[in-house]
Amino acid sequence: MTAKDAPARAAVLGWPASHSLSPRLHGYWLKELGINGTYRAVAVEPEKFAGELHALAAEGYKGFNITLPHKEAALALVDEVDAEARRIGAVNTIVVDRDGRLRGSNTDGYGFTENLKANPAGLNAGAIITGGPAVVLGAGGAARSVVAALDNAGAPEIRVVNRTVEKAQALVRDIGREKGAAIGVFSWPEREKALIDAALLVNTTALGMTGRPALEIALDNLPPGALVTDIVYTPLVTPLLAAAAGRGNPTVDGLGMLIHQARPGFKAWFGAWPEITPGLRENILAGAPC
Ligand code: ATR
Repeated sequence: MTAKDAPARAAVLGWPASHSLSPRLHGYWLKELGINGTYRAVAVEPEKFAGELHALAAEGYKGFNITLPHKEAALALVDEVDAEARRIGAVNTIVVDRDGRLRGSNTDGYGFTENLKANPAGLNAGAIITGGPAVVLGAGGAARSVVAALDNAGAPEIRVVNRTVEKAQALVRDIGREKGAAIGVFSWPEREKALIDAALLVNTTALGMTGRPALEIALDNLPPGALVTDIVYTPLVTPLLAAAAGRGNPTVDGLGMLIHQARPGFKAWFGAWPEITPGLRENILAGAPC
C-alpha cells in the first residue's frame, strides 16, 4: 500500500475508552462519506497518556479526541491551545499539523450552542440565550464548557447551581466574564429559586442518567417559554425533559451536543464536513448503554 492509499487515522484517548460512542459516530460518517479513514478508541492510563499521544502522532495519526480523565493533561501537552480550551482548562480535540505539532481545542461549548440552535422546534436559540438568565445545574467539566459557551453567546446572566458551592465558585473564578455575563452561584437547596425568570435551564450533572440517582427539581418557578436541555442522553428523554415538555416548555435532548462537538475534528482530520441525519442518531443510540 502506498502512502497515498493509507487511510487517514484518528482516535479517541480515554481511560477507560470502551464506553466511548465516538468510534461509532466517526465510523458512521466515514462510511457515509466513503472516506478512506479509521477512527478507534485507545484506552490509555494516565501515567502513559503523554507517551501514547506523542507516539500515535509520530505514527502519522491526523488527530485525536480526548476524553476523561485526560482532558486537563492534554491542555498542558499540546504545542498550541485555542482561547476556548484555555478558558475552560481542558482540551477535547487535537489536530496534528503537517510538521507534527499538536494543536488543541475544545469543541464542547460549540457542540452545546450548535445543538441548541438546531432545535427541532425551530426556536431562535440565540435570542433565548441573550433574552434572560440561564440556569446551569452542576459545576464539573461539562458545566465549564456550557458556562463559557453561554457567556460567549451573550447570556446576560448565568446562575451556576451546585451541591458543592466551592466548586461552583472555582468555576466562576476560572471561566471569568469575558463577554460580560453576570455569573452567580446558587447552592443546591436554592435550585428552584434559581429558576425564577430564567430563559434557559441546562442540566450538566449526571443525575437522571440511567443507573444514576434522579434529578429532583420542581419546575413550578420556571417560566413557560424557557428552553430546557440536558447533556444526559441515556435515556434520550430524561425525566427532566419529560417534566419540562409536560408543562409545555420547549426542550432539546443531549445527543446533539455529542454529535455537534465531533464535527470540527472530523473536518480537520478527514477533510469533509459531516451531516447530522436521523440515521446517525439512531446508530449512536443503538450503541449507547441503556
Ligand atoms: P464532569 O466533569 O463529567 O461534568 P463531575 O466533575 O463528576 O463530572 O461533575 C458532576 C456534577 O454532578 C457535579 O456538579 C456534582 O456536584 P458536586 O460538585 O457537588 O460533586 C453533580 N452531582 C453529582 N451527584 C450529585 C447529587 N447526588 N446531587 C447533586 N449534584 C450531584
